[in-house]
Amino acid sequence: MISILVTGANGQLGSEIKNIYKTNLFKFEKPVNFEFTDTSTLDLTNSTFLKKFIQDHSFDFIVNCAAYTNVDLAESDKEKATEINSVCVKNIVEAIENSTTKFIHISTDYVFDGKNHFPYTEEMHTNPTSVYGISKLEGENIALRYDKTMVIRTSWLYSTYGKNFAKTIHKLCKEKEFLNVVFDQIGSPTYAKDLAHVIFQIIDQTVKENQFNNGIYHYSNEGVCSWYDFAKIIVKKSGSECKVNPIESKDYPTPAKRPFYSVLNKGKIKQTFNLEIPHWQESLNEFFKNLNNN
Ligand SMILES: NC(=O)c1ccc[n+]([C@@H]2O[C@H](COP(=O)([O-])OP(=O)(O)OC[C@H]3O[C@@H](n4cnc5c(N)ncnc54)[C@H](OP(=O)(O)O)[C@@H]3O)[C@@H](O)[C@H]2O)c1
Repeated sequence: MISILVTGANGQLGSEIKNIYKTNLFKFEKPVNFEFTDTSTLDLTNSTFLKKFIQDHSFDFIVNCAAYTNVDLAESDKEKATEINSVCVKNIVEAIENSTTKFIHISTDYVFDGKNHFPYTEEMHTNPTSVYGISKLEGENIALRYDKTMVIRTSWLYSTYGKNFAKTIHKLCKEKEFLNVVFDQIGSPTYAKDLAHVIFQIIDQTVKENQFNNGIYHYSNEGVCSWYDFAKIIVKKSGSECKVNPIESKDYPTPAKRPFYSVLNKGKIKQTFNLEIPHWQESLNEFFKNLNNN
């Protein structure tokens, strides 16, 4: 039996993993057992409890979905963001050192400064512009000190679970006559359910081939857009007449500085795991189907 721990399992990505597992949407070749934990059952800041919990179970895989993800709040809450995004990763790594556990850790496109005009590969220079990005980069570096770590950087994550841009626009466009959305930040939306599915594929392939592909990988949906483009389509799919106005980031000041261009090059993950990644608009259709079914 392959045992898998998913931390931060009540967040967007963790909930999608849980949902795929519980509804049997993915067939593993070998029997698997998932343990889903969140702050109330496994607080990653409690290093003593965490170490005992992990060592008592000796998991084959740990998928760390826990994070401090409020990018703007992190600017004034640096200590907490660093504790969750970096110190907690250290706590996990210390609990698994000298074990055979494989560690899948999730990170972000915000480790880049966004000054590029072509998609970022895994080797490219990182230079986060926000406290969130800095804390996530520290977490990556700590995770990668352990030799059985895979870091998956993703971008613009949304889901039917939790809080995210897609759900916010879907709600606001029913309440407002117009919305102002920035058009000068370019990236790729990622439906968390697609990423969850890919994590299952990675685990399944690792078990089948008895080979773990450690290192950094980039994953998002295919295609590129601005937040404005993304909002326009969400409004249309919501059946709303709400007008969406394109504005510049300078006219929508936020505490955290975000990258203008954070498109990730997905060549490595596609080739290594033989993936076909859906375009973000196809995945947005799926999101709406699932949103309406919930
Ligand atoms: N959201 C995005 O747009 C985005 C973009 C790029 C990358 N990512 C990365 O993708 C990953 C998943 O993001 P997400 O959007 O699914 O995150 P999320 O919805 O914010 O969920 C994070 C989860 O972590 C849990 N957590 C926080 N502190 C914890 C602790 N001390 N111990 C255990 N669990 C704790 C939270 O629980 P509580 O609610 O109880 O605090 C929450 O359930 C993260 O690594 C994130 O950095 C996200």
